[in-house]
Formats: sequence, C-alpha cells, structure tokens
Amino acid sequence: MVTQHAAPPGPRGGRSTANAADYAVDPLGFLTRAAREFGDVVSLTPSNVLLAHPDDIGRVLVDRGENVVKIGPGTRRGPTGFPLAMMNSEGADWERKRRRLRPAFRSERLDHLETTAREGVARTVDGWSEGQTIDVHHEMSRLAMRVGAAHIAGRELGERGETLSRAVAAIMRLTSAPRLPVWLPTRVNRELRRSLRTLDGTLEELVREHRPDGGATALDGLLSDGAPFEEVRDELATLLMSGYETTADALTWLFFALGEHPEADERMDEDGFALAAAKEAMRLYPPAWVISRETVRPFEAGGYVLPAGTVLGLSQWVTHRDERWFPEAGEFRPERWLTGGPAHRYAYFPFGAGARGCVGASMALREVEVIAARLRARVRLEPVEPERVRPRPALALQPLGVRAVVRRR
Ligand code: HEM
Repeated sequence: MVTQHAAPPGPRGGRSTANAADYAVDPLGFLTRAAREFGDVVSLTPSNVLLAHPDDIGRVLVDRGENVVKIGPGTRRGPTGFPLAMMNSEGADWERKRRRLRPAFRSERLDHLETTAREGVARTVDGWSEGQTIDVHHEMSRLAMRVGAAHIAGRELGERGETLSRAVAAIMRLTSAPRLPVWLPTRVNRELRRSLRTLDGTLEELVREHRPDGGATALDGLLSDGAPFEEVRDELATLLMSGYETTADALTWLFFALGEHPEADERMDEDGFALAAAKEAMRLYPPAWVISRETVRPFEAGGYVLPAGTVLGLSQWVTHRDERWFPEAGEFRPERWLTGGPAHRYAYFPFGAGARGCVGASMALREVEVIAARLRARVRLEPVEPERVRPRPALALQPLGVRAVVRRR
C-alpha cells in the first residue's frame, strides 16, 4: 500500500462544517453512510477522522499513550461540571487510580454480584402487577442502579439508591441535551446544579458511613490509598455514571430484541444462551456507540498519515454492523456467539480494549446475563408498539419507547 500524506476522503471532502450539522441531526446514520461510502479511513472534518477497520481500531486501543491519548490537554475538563475522575485521567495518575480498583472487579467478586442481581430482580418483579404496562428503560435504570451501587458499596442502599438513581438520570438527561453555558441561570442549568448537589451529598454520606470490607468492594479500593475525600467521591460518581446508564441501556435493548425474536426468547434458559444474547444485543445496540482518541504524533492508518492532533473516532455502531465481520449484520442472532467470536478480534469492542478498556466489563456482562435470565424466568414482557422504538445516541445509546406488558409465568 502506498502511504499518502493527503487527507483521507470523506463526505463533502471532509472540509465542511456542514458535516458537523449532518452529524448533529443523525450521528448514527451520518457515520454509517460515511464509512460505507468512503471506506475505512474517512475525513469528517479536517481534524476528525473515522477509523472503521478492526486492524486500525485494535492498534488505536492497545496503544499505551505513545501515539494516541484519550483526550487532548485542552479538553481535559468539560464545561459540564462533571467530575474529573479516572475516566478522564492520563499517565501515572490514571495508573494509580486504576490499580486500586482492580481487586474490586476481579472475577471472584462476581458471585457476590450474582446474589445482588437476583435480589434486585426479585424486588423489581414483586413491585409489578399482572397486566401492568412498564417503561422498560425506566425500570432497568432503577434496577441497574440498585444492583450496581450495592455491588460497588458492598451493601443494599435502599432509599438512597433511589435518590442516586434519580439524580444520575437527571444529570445524564440534562448534560446530553444541547444547552447554554453552565454559568447561565437557565432552568436546565439550575436543575443540573441541583442534581449534581444531590449526587455529591448522597455519595458523601455513603463514603462517610462506609466500613472497610477487607478491600473487597470498589469503595474499599477507592479508600485504600488515603486519597482526598473529594477524589473518592468523584471516582464513585464516575463509576456509577459509567456503569449504570450503559448497563440499563444494554438490558433494555436486550429485552427489546428478545421481544422481537420469540424464538431466541424461548432459548434463554439454555446453557450459555443468555450470555450469547447479551453479547449480541451489545453488538447491534452498543451502549458505547463511539469512542475517541487524539494522536500525539503522526499516525498511519489504511495508507494515510494522519498528523498529530487528529481526533480519531471509533464507532461500535458502524463496525459492529459491518457485513465483512458479521454475516447478516443487521439481524439479531445470538447463536453466532455460541460457535465462537467475530471474524476479527477488534470487530467487536463494546467495552473498548487494551489497558483503557472498561474496568467493569465482566461485571456488566454478568449483570446483564443474570438479570435477563432471572427476570425472564419470572415474567414474560409483552412488547407494546415495538415499531416506535428508536435509538437515541446520547452519551450512551439510549433506547427510546421500549414498553411492555408484564405477564407472570
Ligand atoms: C454494558 C455496560 C458497559 C459498557 C458498554 C461500557 C463501555 C465502556 C467503554 C467502551 C469504555 C472505554 C472507553 C474508551 O476507550 O474511550 C469503558 C471504560 C470504563 N468503564 Fe465501562 N462500560 C460498561 C459498564 C461499566 C461498569 C459496570 C463500570 C463500573 C462499575 C464501568 C466503568 C468504567 C470505567 C471506570 C472506565 C474507564 C477505564 C479507564 O479509563 O481506565 N463500566 N466502558
């Protein structure tokens, strides 16, 4: 392949602010069309390039800061007032933060998670009545917060779990909508500030009341190296934020897909099938639908040399739906996971990959698998107007309009 220093091709030559406008209207469609039309290296703007080939995705994700970083120095703290936690740190600071969390996410902790998840499902289902129509995303969000927070803190949170769930949901909703700068006293900003205060306050109580548990829980890990209180609180907020919406979305999409595919739903109690179905739902509806890195030196991809300072976009939505790696890519077929993985190792990256891959990946997968299997054993969720369901690509890929009627088994 000849290496070129010219910019890669792209919609409108990759040189137009009109691309940003098209992206804003329909990000999923825009990225998909860009990759299908222009190939695996696509200029979206002069400094934004989409990489769609798993070879390039793998090289970007396993890079250890030599060629790409997670965020450029200028963008370290966003205007949202979001806590600056591990998710956004680099280098030694990141290593330290990640190291102290590792024990809490080891596989032996997953048995504990299973118990928490079963209890969470029992409580959720007990709260439903026969024939009731539920908003599946709303119910899964409460459940994911209940289970996730209890797992991270090592105990049931009761009413406080509900408070956290409401505050985080509000923050997610308010920060993913376009809005005026935070310092302006608009209604949305006031509500955002109130929710952030509630979140901080509730987490502060949790941290102060926490009794060490032999290093077993994530909260134990955070408290293990004498980090300042504010840092512990912010890390906790990040863990909850990153773990909760994504898991709730994954669960909701899975129930939506099972509603559309009764033949798959029938197989959910077969050995290994629930896990396969969870993976397949995250392929078609990846909660993290795009991630990015910034080049710190010229980076070669698909025969093009991209200069330092280029933002590389990797889209799970685009690559997971590519026929080259997944035959019948648009179809929900959990069986494909029973007979092995995808045709290319980095064609499937719902949790990212490499050192900066999701610290909660095995926790999330187990949680989705157990909750789906347990819930389905107790109730049948009869889809209501599934044709109206659509994805909303916000911070995570939110399922809009998933409703169901509860039928006890
Ligand atoms: C279905 C559920 C989940 C999905 C799809 C998901 C996805 C991801 C992805 C794609 C990344 C990498 C982002 C990048 O490379 O730029 C990531 C990172 C991360 N995730 Fe998750 N995640 C999920 C659940 C969780 C859970 C349950 C937790 C913790 C309780 C969690 C905590 C984190 C943290 C702390 C990072 C940053 C890791 C680092 O920078 O070293 N996630 N997640």
